[in-house]
Amino acid sequence: MQAFTDRWTENFAPLYERDDVADMSWVTTSVSPELQRLVIDGTIAPGSSVVDLACGPGVQAIFLARHGMHVTGVDRSAAALDRARALAGLYHSEVTFLEGDILNVPLPDNCADVVHDSFVYHNVRPEARTAYAAEAARLAVPGGLFILVGFSDRMSPGTGPIRLSSDDVVKPFLPFFEIEELRRFRNLPTLKRPDQWHWLGVFRRR
Ligand SMILES: C[S@@+](CC[C@H](N)C(=O)[O-])C[C@H]1O[C@@H](n2cnc3c(N)ncnc32)[C@H](O)[C@@H]1O
Repeated sequence: MQAFTDRWTENFAPLYERDDVADMSWVTTSVSPELQRLVIDGTIAPGSSVVDLACGPGVQAIFLARHGMHVTGVDRSAAALDRARALAGLYHSEVTFLEGDILNVPLPDNCADVVHDSFVYHNVRPEARTAYAAEAARLAVPGGLFILVGFSDRMSPGTGPIRLSSDDVVKPFLPFFEIEELRRFRNLPTLKRPDQWHWLGVFRRR
C-alpha cells in the first residue's frame, strides 16, 4: 500500500532532488515549541532511543540527538537523507539515517522508547492510517511513546496536508496506544501559512 497521498507523491516527492531545503514549505529551521517542551520537561529523556519516521532533512532527528537521544531517522527519499547527513555533519551529531518506508520500517520490533512523527501522518492517505499506526506500535517498546505533530482542522482550508480532526488523530492509534496528551497548538509561522494550528499528540504504547 502506498502510504502518502497522491498530492504528496505527485507534487512533493521530487522536491529534494530539485530545491534547497530552505525553500521547502514546512522547513522553519527549528523544531516546534512542543517538541522543545517535551525535551525540557523530560518526557523525552536523554538516553532514549528514538525512531524519527519520515525524517526528511533531519531537523528534528538532529535536535533530539543533540539533546542526548539515540536517534534513527527513516525516510524513503535518498536525496532527503543526503541532506540530513550533511546537516548532521555540520552539527557533529551522530544520527543513523536509513532509507525505508514508513509502512515497512527496516528496524526490529520494540526498538524505540519514542517513535516520532513531524508532519508525516497528515500526509498519510486515510486508508493507510491503521497500517501506519500498527507500524509505529511495532517499533515502540511497551510503555513507549508515539509523538505526533501535524495539521489540525483549525488551519484555514485549502491546499496542503489533510486538516486532521481529533477523530482522525485518535481512532487509528487507539487499538495500540493510550492518549497522554492531545491538543491543538500554535506552531511557528511559515511565509505561506502564517497561522499554523497544529496537533500535538502524545500516545503511550499499551
Ligand atoms: C513534510 S516532510 C516532513 C519531514 C520531516 N519529518 C520534517 O518535519 O521536516 C514528509 C517526509 O515524508 C517522506 N516520505 C514520503 N513518503 C514516505 C514513505 N512512504 N516512507 C518514508 N518516508 C516517506 C518524504 O520524503 C518527506 O521527507
